[in-house]
Amino acid sequence: MKRKVVSVLLSTAMAATMLAGCGGSAPAPAAASSEAASEAASQAAETVASAEEAASEIASEAGADAASGETISVGFAQVGHESDWRTAATKSVQDAFSAENGFDLQFVDCDNDSAAQLEAVRNFIQQDVDYIVIDPIVSTGWDTVLQECEDAGIPVIVIDRTIDDSDKYTAWVGSQFKNEGIAAGAWLKDYAAAKGIEELNILVISGTTGASAQLGRSEGFDQYVDSEGWNKLDEQTGDFTQEGGQEVMESYCKSYNGKFNVVVCQNDNEAFGAQQAMDAAGVSYGVDGDVILISFDACTAGLQQVLEGKINADFQCNPLSGPDCAKIVQSLQAGEEVQKETFMAEPWYVAESDLKSITYTNASGEEVTEDLIPVTQEIVDAAY
Ligand code: AHR
Repeated sequence: MKRKVVSVLLSTAMAATMLAGCGGSAPAPAAASSEAASEAASQAAETVASAEEAASEIASEAGADAASGETISVGFAQVGHESDWRTAATKSVQDAFSAENGFDLQFVDCDNDSAAQLEAVRNFIQQDVDYIVIDPIVSTGWDTVLQECEDAGIPVIVIDRTIDDSDKYTAWVGSQFKNEGIAAGAWLKDYAAAKGIEELNILVISGTTGASAQLGRSEGFDQYVDSEGWNKLDEQTGDFTQEGGQEVMESYCKSYNGKFNVVVCQNDNEAFGAQQAMDAAGVSYGVDGDVILISFDACTAGLQQVLEGKINADFQCNPLSGPDCAKIVQSLQAGEEVQKETFMAEPWYVAESDLKSITYTNASGEEVTEDLIPVTQEIVDAAY
């Protein structure tokens, strides 16, 4: 069942003004202290609660369509199943687009294969679904297929990663990846200064090459590599997987034995793999180790590692975009305008409480001061 769709393009500048807290739309947590930690925990719980609230709004809005016997068909071309983050993101979309909420969701796990993802979208067009949701594996190569969606009159909602070579989609919900990379660099600069570490020899295990999550995190972090004159020894992809992180780190441990003191993993699963490789090579890491370990995502297992001091800092990427995405579809169904970009809230988590905050120029060119949240068990328990 299709209805005429009206969308409005908010300018990037407008969207940027929506950014608050750590690159997202939620308020920033209070300064690092036990009070701040408990506030952070309650914020994490609020994130879950607000996702639940959004889910119940979706359910009640779905009531009208369901009563009239209308089902909205949605095709979702998901990246794959490479990480804990991805598992949470898939569940978030599947829960929001449930049959009870009035949706018929067709889910395709593209297993990190860009050709398979384009084919999945084309199959959705063939099936004439009402909406297509895409989490793009890579940020380019989309113009032709998005034109095909437009020609078929099927609105496309992009979630998580961005599409950078076409604007032929109706809306996007996700994270500001460059801010995550900038924040990691800002934290490392202040942390090294506080610990009196003068020389930083850095190894990066990046995410899937060409994914906007990889491009943004690398670009943001490299700003600090360049401005601080840090020595980045190498950057190789671990494809956002634990196996990939382990393999790359095994080879780093051989090639750069005794020569590195920072490892940056672009997601938690890569960090777990890197830990296994460092354990095997007898390299110590974390709060009491020789190597500073930085990660992104802040999933439950990642935050547990931060709590135990085995990851020094973890920059959150929020996977719970399902409810926002479903609300966008419902608004479009109702003929309402939707904003082009929605940024998810993302706090920054640390193992030690000495540094209270970091100040940096974010991806929108604004100077921001963001609190650093020391992880507590309460925070781990409230995580995704
Ligand atoms: O696109 C988001 C990234 O993709 C997450 O950081 C990572 O865990 C996932 O695989």
